[in-house]
Amino acid sequence: MAPSFVEIAQLGKTYDTPTGPAVIVRDFTLAVCEGEFVCIVGHSGCGKSTVLSILMGLNLPTTGGVVIGGREIDGPGTDRGVVFQAATLLPWLTVGDNVQIALDQVADRSSGATAEAYLAAVGLAGMANRYPRELSAGMQQRVGIARAFALEPRLLLLDEPFSLLDALTRMDLQDELMRLWETTRRTVIMVTHDVDEALLLADRVVMMTNGPAATIGDVLDVPFARPRAREDILTRPDYFWMRDQIVGFLEAQADA
Ligand SMILES: Nc1ncnc2c1ncn2[C@@H]1O[C@H](COP(=O)(O)OP(=O)(O)O)[C@@H](O)[C@H]1O
Ligand SMILES: [Mg+2]
Repeated sequence: MAPSFVEIAQLGKTYDTPTGPAVIVRDFTLAVCEGEFVCIVGHSGCGKSTVLSILMGLNLPTTGGVVIGGREIDGPGTDRGVVFQAATLLPWLTVGDNVQIALDQVADRSSGATAEAYLAAVGLAGMANRYPRELSAGMQQRVGIARAFALEPRLLLLDEPFSLLDALTRMDLQDELMRLWETTRRTVIMVTHDVDEALLLADRVVMMTNGPAATIGDVLDVPFARPRAREDILTRPDYFWMRDQIVGFLEAQADA
């Protein structure tokens, strides 16, 4: 069997607080295959962003470690594309230049696709000369996704990228992300608290227990064939069974 592309081993994070050490995440162990799409769900504050920020290299684990493509990570890198809740674009640059910065970072291994092409792939053809302030929040988030894909990263790390958007925009962007993923098959680890989003996008849904000392409570395989269409999934008899598994897990956490 091929070794896993991402190996997260016994990851733990403890913060020093005025009232003593606070164990936020403990013993988080997960192996992700190349090309797999994994969603992490869990209640607000359980430690999802903590795990993701460690994978991004923006935060150091207290215990355990992360190996990506055979190399232990020791900081941020262009092998990983990241998207946060709100797009973090540079306001003094056009959106084209915001994407171009990512392209410049990986010029030595670039496939030659232009910033314009990446923008077109997220539905922003012809918008390269606009400034972020001229775009809606949803369009800015599209630019953020274009920029992450422009790195042609081996791993995409998305932390609730659509949670601040209205429902219709969110659906558009989910479809856009799904299409991009179909054509590139990058490995994705995405945090979401939207159960339907996780079932639409993921090959596996990782459920985190509530903190303190949160860890993986359960993992659900999502066997829906690809490419997926929202309408097809919703009419599958096992869709609601799977939805119940996740919602039931989250409800049990809330009651615990
Ligand atoms: N720098 C920090 N120092 C102390 N506690 C922190 C720090 N960063 C996050 N936390 C705590 O860690 C917990 C998990 O936060 P987070 O990973 O952001 O959760 P989630 O993304 O699941 O909502 C929260 O209780 C938060 O208050
Ligand atoms: Mg978070």
